Amino acid sequence: MRVILDCDPGIDDTYAIIFLTAAAHAGLIELDCVTTTSGNVPADQCAQNAGWILGLCGLPIIPLAAGLPAPLEVELTTTPETHGDTGLGYANAPARHVEHDWDTLWIDSIERGTDDLHLIVTGPMTNLAAFAHAHPEHFAKLRHITVMGGAVNYPGNTTPSAEWNFWVDPHAAADVFAMTPAPITLCSLGVTEQMLLSPGALAEFVDKLGGSPLAEHLEAITRFYFEFHEEVGQGYQAQIHDLLTVLIALGLVEYTWKDATVDVEADSQLMRGTSVADLRGIWEREPNARLVTGAYIEMAWGWFTWACEVHAKIAAGDAALEELRHQRADD
Ligand code: BDR
Ligand code: CA
Repeated sequence: MRVILDCDPGIDDTYAIIFLTAAAHAGLIELDCVTTTSGNVPADQCAQNAGWILGLCGLPIIPLAAGLPAPLEVELTTTPETHGDTGLGYANAPARHVEHDWDTLWIDSIERGTDDLHLIVTGPMTNLAAFAHAHPEHFAKLRHITVMGGAVNYPGNTTPSAEWNFWVDPHAAADVFAMTPAPITLCSLGVTEQMLLSPGALAEFVDKLGGSPLAEHLEAITRFYFEFHEEVGQGYQAQIHDLLTVLIALGLVEYTWKDATVDVEADSQLMRGTSVADLRGIWEREPNARLVTGAYIEMAWGWFTWACEVHAKIAAGDAALEELRHQRADD
């Protein structure tokens, strides 16, 4: 299986990268490229962050490029209060040169074949919508798209009805659902908010990371997110939306879903970014989404534990990754 990750790291996006790099080290996936979308912080800053995390994860060679600087039609809003001024909580990625050929990376990947290619978007869908408009023939070839976003029959986290990724670029979200060539696996807040990380679990992960350079920084990255969740009344813990999304995309955790037709409100101020899912066929439109309705969260954390062990082994120069891969497959 091959993966394109389009993300806006972002603290929970960072957890998604940590998992994908472990999976790539272990040979479970090929990580074709990482591109960034403007959301939690601007796309260039996201690329700086992603590049640093890829390096800490031992894969600085993964092709990386920053995507579009702003949403399709509205101004960019970022969220330093949630992810910190530079997007990585109390940590800071070193400055780096940022490439901008993100759509070339996507095209190259798509041209290698799309039967086993999974595009995972864990930020606003600006790049994906722009790609659909600019490169319709390549967009039409995508078979597997998984998206973190939306609040479906569930309270929003940005307005009473809208989730952050959809709210930041509502026109992009609406366009992608209108144009998608295949049903999108949609991991929305009702499910991803269940992927809760506690300080105790974080300490265990840091311990499992052993000598990986990540171990030095994960606490500083995550502590900011714990504090944010506490400030907004959700307790001293953190929702790791994007990690669960990646695990669902890869089919590594058990989950339930319903076929649905999803649309996103883009133009009204009150309902901006609100996602609506027709679960009863009232619109008489073809389903364009597989709406994830539940996921086996413990299994997801089990995979993250495995990822930390992989990173520890990589740091220790232990080549016995095949063993880890089988060990997980047998569980
Ligand atoms: C989403 O918003 C972002 O802040 C997170 O990274 C996640 O992708 C959750 O609403
Ligand atoms: Ca994100």
